[in-house]
Amino acid sequence: MKFFRMRLILALVVGITLVSVASTYFEVLAHKHAQRLELVRRVTLLNKSLQPEMEKTVAGGQTGEIAAEAARLHSQTEALGLAVYDTQGGLVTESGPAGLFGALPRGPLDKAIKQGLDSSAFGHLNDEQWLEEAIPLHVDGHMAGALVILEDAGSIRAESARVWRQSFWRIAAFVLLILCVTLLMVHWFLMRPMMRMAERLRRLRMGQADDLADESLAEMSLFTPLAREVESISESLIEARAAAETEARLRDAGEHQWTAERLAVHIRERFGSSRIFVLSNREPYMHVLQGRETVCMVPPSGLVTAIEPVLRACDGVWVAHGSGSADALNVDEFDRLRVPPDDPRYSLRRVWLSSEEESGYYDGFSNEGLWPLCHIAHTRPIFRASDWECYQRVNEKFATALLGEMEGSANPIVFVQDYHFALVPRLIKAARPAARVAIFWHIPWPNPEAFGICPWQARLLEGLLGADLIGFHIPLHCNNFLSTVDRVLESRTDREHMTARRDGHTSSVRAYPVSVAFDGSKPERRTPRLSREELLKKFGLHCETLIVGVDRMDYTKGIVERLMAVEKVLEEHPFYLERLTMVQIAAPSRSRIPSYVNLRRQVEETVERINQRYQTTLWKPILLIERQCSHADVDLWYRAAAVCLVTSLHDGMNLVAKEYVAARDDEDGVLVLSKFTGAATELLEALVVNPYDTEGVAEAIHQGLEMNRGERLMRMQRMRRHVMDHNIYRWAASILGDLHELRLESPAAADLSHAQPASVSPAEVVDRKLA
Ligand code: G6P
Repeated sequence: MKFFRMRLILALVVGITLVSVASTYFEVLAHKHAQRLELVRRVTLLNKSLQPEMEKTVAGGQTGEIAAEAARLHSQTEALGLAVYDTQGGLVTESGPAGLFGALPRGPLDKAIKQGLDSSAFGHLNDEQWLEEAIPLHVDGHMAGALVILEDAGSIRAESARVWRQSFWRIAAFVLLILCVTLLMVHWFLMRPMMRMAERLRRLRMGQADDLADESLAEMSLFTPLAREVESISESLIEARAAAETEARLRDAGEHQWTAERLAVHIRERFGSSRIFVLSNREPYMHVLQGRETVCMVPPSGLVTAIEPVLRACDGVWVAHGSGSADALNVDEFDRLRVPPDDPRYSLRRVWLSSEEESGYYDGFSNEGLWPLCHIAHTRPIFRASDWECYQRVNEKFATALLGEMEGSANPIVFVQDYHFALVPRLIKAARPAARVAIFWHIPWPNPEAFGICPWQARLLEGLLGADLIGFHIPLHCNNFLSTVDRVLESRTDREHMTARRDGHTSSVRAYPVSVAFDGSKPERRTPRLSREELLKKFGLHCETLIVGVDRMDYTKGIVERLMAVEKVLEEHPFYLERLTMVQIAAPSRSRIPSYVNLRRQVEETVERINQRYQTTLWKPILLIERQCSHADVDLWYRAAAVCLVTSLHDGMNLVAKEYVAARDDEDGVLVLSKFTGAATELLEALVVNPYDTEGVAEAIHQGLEMNRGERLMRMQRMRRHVMDHNIYRWAASILGDLHELRLESPAAADLSHAQPASVSPAEVVDRKLA
């Protein structure tokens, strides 16, 4: 730092001095020139005034008279000397120091005599400086000699020296001033922020609290790009340190906690150079137009949290439906983009669907057919042949896109998501027999009788059995699936090893309970953005106790049943009137489908009816929030609620139950949980209810409200421990780990060729329909 300062000072002194000296030099030069001109003008004027008298005297021709006149005229001036010359340039007379004129150069004299012109020249001898001015003398119009005046010019040099002296002090003051200002500026705008940034990095290195973040960012505003880089380095450092600490803590406790980092390492170690390809209907990043701006959003989905570390670890590819309004504007010519947008680590390939395709494949077969078929919620599935046709075509379209992305990847790993793509595993396996293919069915699989009402059940099962691994949330769904295969297809199922073998290909069927990203690495007891009181105030709520429900507006979630149970609590326990409010968040979902439109009306009417029945001027029993809320907002409600109600009529897992548990870092709160959710098989400390039993649910709610703190804490601690140990990272690691461990039959042994030849090209897949 010292060296830098010294060099800076030296450079400044030299630079400013050079500039100042150069400017003074030119100033002196100009000044000198002006002075000389002035002197010449003055002497010429003097000479001219003497000329007529001297010409008169020269006309007389007497040398004595000329000498006397020269002496007289000289005495009238302050000139150094005065001399008269004849026409040959011979000295006639001189007045002034003896011998002075003999030493003069003859230039001006010759010019005056020979050319008849006034002429002057500056000259010097030792320290003396003078101006010699010669003018011709005429008598009767003829050249008669020259009159020469010598004037002292020493004052010009003295004046220049004075200017130089003055400039020296001015330059010195100037250098000093600029030096001080520059050093101050360097200190305030460069050194100080740098020192702070260095101090911040030092603290981060030492693992101390990062409380300088805001200040240093503000100070570094001059160097925004650099500051941004430092910001992201420090964030990575904090994350890396947190991950390392978690690992160390877990090693110390002898536990096997799964984290995003551990999942990434696990994947890299297992799969090496193999690429992972994920297929899902919903995309992980969506571009939407908001006014004139394009915004990139992450749709609220647990899947992104789980799959992203996997794809980041191996630079994989995620294929999904491009459903955002500005999606098409944000892809390259191959419909790809790198994501996450601010730290690109893997590729997203968007597939476009026409509105007919969306309506047949997504609204129709997936959500009016398969969804109610698999959820026993007593909403009748609708099977239209045209929807089924569309579902097949769209599955083939996605399979083609996937195969296109897989081209050139040896030993690819394919991970298909959910009921939208039951046919894809077979299409992929037929074209790329060496690929390892898994599908995870995120919804329940009902018993064979229930599934049997689907006219195309065999085709769906054949499609699924193309996968090497088929995952469900719980063992019951695995068993239902194998029973369905047994009943519908000619195949060999093995309950001991949980496999189904058909056409020489074996599929393993296993349970992997999906979960949330809760790994205990976040600082415990985070401070929420809004306190409970602020939250209630913001929504105009006046109550002592809150109950919360968070769902998509879906008939499988038992929202109406839940509202009726809350009404029952108020009916049976009037103590809670004006004390208890239920907040129901219902995110709009699949709103083009009539059964969803009906449900929405039913929910709104029920809320209206209960509120009408009980509400007072300030209080109302139910607040319905019908919009998509961010994770952070939902978290606030989770933390504020004494009881969380999850009363699905049927649910594969239900992540709200696990999110509520993960959010309660105060270890308080009660979970009322439907026995028809996958989560009920894991969260044994919840108050488990039958959602169809209104009295039973009301009783459980009341039990939760009255439960003593000790029991609440004990139950919540156990549930938190379970969710932390069985988080989303473990889910992804288990499925992909098992997929890696599976022994694949040699590709030749598996004969899926009656659907597709093993060597089929991606393009051919489109042209072929499943048999
Ligand atoms: C269920 C399905 C998911 C689906 C989600 C939201 O959880 O298993 O695949 O993404 O609902 O439904 P949506 O139709 O809005 O994608």
